[in-house]
Amino acid sequence: MQNTNTSLSSLIPEAERDFAACANINDLEQAKAKYLGKSGALTEAMKGLGKLSNEERPAAGAAINVVKQAVEAALKVRRDAILLAEQEKQLAGESLDVTLPARGQGKGGLHPVSLTLARVESLFHSIGFDVAEGPEIESDFYNFTALNIPDNHPARAMHDTFYVDAADGSLDYVLRTHTSPVQVHYMQDAMKNKTDMPLKIIAPGRVYRVDSDATHSPMFHQVEGLWVDQNISFANLKGVVQDFLQRFFERDDLQVRFRPSFFPFTEPSAEMDMSWNGGWLEIGGCGMVHPEVFKHVGIDAEKYRGFAFGLGIERLTMLRYGVNDLRHFFNNDLRFLQQFGR
Ligand code: DAH
Repeated sequence: MQNTNTSLSSLIPEAERDFAACANINDLEQAKAKYLGKSGALTEAMKGLGKLSNEERPAAGAAINVVKQAVEAALKVRRDAILLAEQEKQLAGESLDVTLPARGQGKGGLHPVSLTLARVESLFHSIGFDVAEGPEIESDFYNFTALNIPDNHPARAMHDTFYVDAADGSLDYVLRTHTSPVQVHYMQDAMKNKTDMPLKIIAPGRVYRVDSDATHSPMFHQVEGLWVDQNISFANLKGVVQDFLQRFFERDDLQVRFRPSFFPFTEPSAEMDMSWNGGWLEIGGCGMVHPEVFKHVGIDAEKYRGFAFGLGIERLTMLRYGVNDLRHFFNNDLRFLQQFGR
């Protein structure tokens, strides 16, 4: 037992040296144990007091306390120094350079498909068309049956789509495969509300098909057109579509031609082509509203006639901006999207 005053007081410089050698709080705690821990030198010295006589004990205890306080003081000095150094290091690492230029607020822009939709709506609006909307989850009736596409009709196979399970397990709902069902909703509502003729609408929106490649996406956009009145003819259809396309592409010499085709909801039906770089490009389908469709919505087919058409919005956008792959529209790559105006 080294409880003579000299060996005790030599603990002070020894502890100071040990503490000074500690670079962090953990090391310091270890070093502290050697002096003040459960079996540290000073703790042992305290235990030794019990063996001394009553006369010797007070002086020996006081001497131990002096050393203990000195060691504790040295410990505190070192601990404060380490904490201060750590704090300074942290502050230096987190320094905020207030002279850096601010990051700024990037301005968002409209998606090219949205730009086309806005342009289509404003051009048709200027010649008296209203904009109508319908649900994207559509019943089998509106998407097919009311459009004269009965069960088992081959046209259904061409519109392979995503079926939505009804609660009872039936497959009576689909993600709509075209915007044509909006024609049916609109005409039904017009008859119910006794809206005055003519009915003159476009119906832009998302449609869905099980299709995916450079020119097809499982989700894409169409715009439907419908004009119902007493003396509507194919000539009106051609005038409206040609005027629209000339203004959309800003080309007064743009021509439209019709090729006979088939759609269950129009009779006669045609594919629309427009002149483009010396050739012809197919841009949509059209026709005169089929009497069966009028029957489904309660319009007198003896008295009224109408034309309808459907155009692909991505197609129009690709041609207008020279985009060669439809998938660019939905990859959300800012390098692509940032190229479009606001
Ligand atoms: N709904 C047709 C489709 O997506 C396009 C279409 C063809 C719409 C002829 C029409 C129409 O209104 O008259 O394939």
